Amino acid sequence: MTTAEELELPVARKCPFAPPEEYTQIREEQPITRVRIPDGKQAWVVSRHEDVRTVLNDRRFSSDRFNENFPVLVKGGNVFRRSNAERTMITMDAPEHGPARKAVLGEFTVKRVTAMRPRIQEIVDGLIDDVLAAGQPVDLVEMLSLPVPSLVICELLGVPYEDHGFFQENTAKLLKRTVEFEERQASFERVRGYLDRLVTAKEAAPGDDLLGRQIVKLREEGTYDHRALVGLSFLLLVAGHETTANMISLGTVGLLENPGQLAAIKADPGKTLDAVEELLRYFTIVDTATARVAVEDVEIGGVTIKAGDGVLALGYTANWDPAVFDEPEKLDLTRGARHHVAFGFGPHQCLGQNLARAELQIVFDTLFRRIPTLKLAADVDDLPFKDDASIYGLYRLPVSW
Ligand code: HEM
Repeated sequence: MTTAEELELPVARKCPFAPPEEYTQIREEQPITRVRIPDGKQAWVVSRHEDVRTVLNDRRFSSDRFNENFPVLVKGGNVFRRSNAERTMITMDAPEHGPARKAVLGEFTVKRVTAMRPRIQEIVDGLIDDVLAAGQPVDLVEMLSLPVPSLVICELLGVPYEDHGFFQENTAKLLKRTVEFEERQASFERVRGYLDRLVTAKEAAPGDDLLGRQIVKLREEGTYDHRALVGLSFLLLVAGHETTANMISLGTVGLLENPGQLAAIKADPGKTLDAVEELLRYFTIVDTATARVAVEDVEIGGVTIKAGDGVLALGYTANWDPAVFDEPEKLDLTRGARHHVAFGFGPHQCLGQNLARAELQIVFDTLFRRIPTLKLAADVDDLPFKDDASIYGLYRLPVSW
């Protein structure tokens, strides 16, 4: 391979079932090193599990995506920065970040998600009824992976689900690295404009949904801010459907490709939650979102990262670090991969993780119980994996039974 400093990150995955070999080589040979990034600058890459967690938990590394030194991993620049988007919790640091996250944390607790489970189950059952009624093969992305989290997040936020085609299509463009800047920006503006109008309508008549509840609560506290709620709705709508959708698709492939382990889960659904953790570790679909910019000089692993330097805390290499996970290349659904960083780590650790886990567990249990003979209707090598997207996944997943 070229030396790490000549290498440009992110490297596209060539195989869906393993990190690019350049990543593994970095972790083994130069675990903290400089690389090139698409905006023409250089950034540090931190690749070992321990160091990734250190970076993500250290306030000297900022999440401020509006900082001009924040590493930009798509050509043409950062859409949010250049469009003067609203600042949301994912771009904030302490002391601003804590209150912004706390304001909505109560909507995503284990207790709240447990209360959502019957409705999630109902949604999944209804969609599987449609799959079974359709002619084979069906595209599972269109019929299950995308609709489950989209319906759930729409109902939670109070976004009309009939608009799903619009926001799914624009989100996909926004996340595709090969789409030109102007087109990504136009997609962003369309979804932002839509949510701006939706929030305005809710201000006149706040309903019993997350956005309505935020309006009522924040008005009572005297802290209501229209733009902040538009930003939050954008963050939750995008993060809430695209991530989980891709994990449903990839997880299904991972399970179908490992029939022995799948049989053990079918026999004992009590094992599904462990399987979900391992699938999250194994695929690590959001591995470049955990970028940061140093706001002070920081020494880590014998290397000094200077204030203003960009840092990529690479979750994928961390989740395949043999110092933490024995034989990381093995999908072992019983390993109890609790320490993975697929949801990030530290103060910005995924807000929606309880919800994502519940959706994944319910989907896998229900799908393989109701369609026990489910199989891929294409060779796994021919599946359209999202090698060109900021969130890894599948564009289509043809299945039959
Ligand atoms: C399998 C599904 C998911 C994966 C793999 C995932 C992954 C991640 C990761 C890696 C981060 C950390 C970003 C950082 O450190 O900068 C994150 C943050 C976040 N996620 Fe998720 N996510 C998933 C599902 C969801 C869902 C369903 C929601 C909402 C409904 C959500 C909402 C958020 C939010 C709001 C943040 C920012 C938290 C903060 O900055 O405090 N995610 N997610």
